[in-house]
Amino acid sequence: MDDRQRALDFDVKKIDQAFLDNPFPTYKLMRDYDPVHRNPDGSYFLTRYEDVVLSFKHPSMSSDKKIDFKPKFGDGPLYVHHTTSLVFNDPPAHTRVRKLLSEAFTPRKLAELEPVIEGIIDRLLDRLATQGTFDVVSDYALALPTEIIADMLGVPEEHRHKLHNYSNLILGALDPVVSSEKIAKGHEAVEEFGGLLEELIAERRKTPKGGEMGEVLAALIFGEVDGENLSPIELIQNCIFLLNAGHETTANLVGNGISILLDYPDQMDRLRGDPALIKTAVEEFLRFQSPLQIGNRKATEDVEFGPGNAKTSIPAGSFIYTVIGSANRDPEIFVEPEEVDIGRRPNPQIAFGIGKHTCMGNTLGRIEGHVAIGKFVKRFPNIRLVGEKKYHGRARFRGLKILPVEVF
Ligand code: HEM
Repeated sequence: MDDRQRALDFDVKKIDQAFLDNPFPTYKLMRDYDPVHRNPDGSYFLTRYEDVVLSFKHPSMSSDKKIDFKPKFGDGPLYVHHTTSLVFNDPPAHTRVRKLLSEAFTPRKLAELEPVIEGIIDRLLDRLATQGTFDVVSDYALALPTEIIADMLGVPEEHRHKLHNYSNLILGALDPVVSSEKIAKGHEAVEEFGGLLEELIAERRKTPKGGEMGEVLAALIFGEVDGENLSPIELIQNCIFLLNAGHETTANLVGNGISILLDYPDQMDRLRGDPALIKTAVEEFLRFQSPLQIGNRKATEDVEFGPGNAKTSIPAGSFIYTVIGSANRDPEIFVEPEEVDIGRRPNPQIAFGIGKHTCMGNTLGRIEGHVAIGKFVKRFPNIRLVGEKKYHGRARFRGLKILPVEVF
C-alpha cells in the first residue's frame, strides 16, 4: 500500500503498539498526505502546526465535553470529573475557575516556590548519588512535581504516594481507545480521590485563609468571582484536575528531557559546556517529545482547515483531535524538526497549548524543568543507560514508564 493510501486509511480508534511506542512517523505521514484527516467515526485528526493553533484560537471551537464523554463514561464519576474540570469547559464556567486559580500562579508566588524547588531537587540528588543505579522516572522525575503540587494543595505526606496512580487511571481514561476494565478503574479512582479531597477541604475550611500550605486550595475554597464561590462538586473536581495536571506532564518533561540527552550525547556535552542553555534546552524537549501529544476540541460551526491551496471544511458538531506532538515537528515552522537542537531559536513550540486554555502551570512547569534537568546534568557528569527504557504506552500523554541508569 502506498503512503497516501496509508494516511487516508488511518483510524485513530485503531492505533497500535507501534504508534504508542513512536507516533512520529505516523504524524509525518498524516501531515504529508492528509493533514485534515477524517476518521471512520467522523472525528478529525489535525496534524499541521497552523491548523492546531487555529483549533485552539478559533472562537467556534468548544472544549465542552458533556455530549462526547457520555457514551464513553456514562453518568459515572469519570463523566462528572472530566466534564466539570476547567479544561473541558467553555466560558463562563471556564472563566470563573480560571480567575480563581490565577491568584495562586502570580509571578510573586512562583518566585517564592523557586527555592523550595531547589531544596527538593538537592535532597533528591543526594539520595540518587548514594544509590548509584536508579530509575530516572520513579526515583526522580515524578518526585519533584508531585511534592510541589501536593504542597500547593496541602495534601499531607501520608497520601502523596497515591497521587500518581490516581492520575494514571483518571487521565489514562482520556485516550482514544480504553478498555472497559480501565474505565471501571478510572471511575473508582475519581471516587476515592474525591473522598480524600472532601476530607482535606473540610479540614482546610476550619483554618483561616492563607496557611503555609495549600494556597491553591485556599484560593479555590474561599475565592469569589462576582460574589460566587465554586460549588462543592466544582471544587473537588478541579482539585483532582490540578493534582493530575500539575504532576503528570511535568514528570514527563523531566523524564523525556533526560532521555533525549542520553540519546543525543553531543547535546548532553553542549549543555554541560554551557549550562545557560538549559532554558532553550527545555523548550526543545517540550517541542521534541511534547508531554501532552493530543488535545481535542469540538466545532460549533463549520470551520476551514488545511493549507491555503487545499482547504477542507470541518462541519459543525465534529470532534477534533488536535495533535500538538505533530504540530511541534511541522517542517513548515521548524527547521530540521526531527533533529534535537538545544539552542534552537526561534522555537514557537505549543506544548502548553495556546489561546484561552493555555496551560496555567506553564511557568511553574518550566521552572521545574530548568532546575530538575539542569541540576541533574551538573551533578552526574558520567551516566549511562543500564536497561531498556520504556514509554508508558498512552497516546494522549507521552512519557516514560522506566529509564534505568547508572551514575559513576
Ligand atoms: C511540562 C508541563 C506541562 C505541560 C506540557 C502542560 C500542558 C498543558 C496543555 C497542552 C494544556 C491545554 C489543554 C487544552 O487547551 O485543551 C494545559 C492546561 C492546563 N494546565 Fe498544564 N501542562 C504542564 C504543567 C502544568 C502544571 C505544573 C500545572 C499546575 C500546577 C498545570 C495546570 C494546567 C491547568 C490548570 C490547565 C487548564 C487551563 C484552562 O483550561 O484554562 N499544567 N496544560
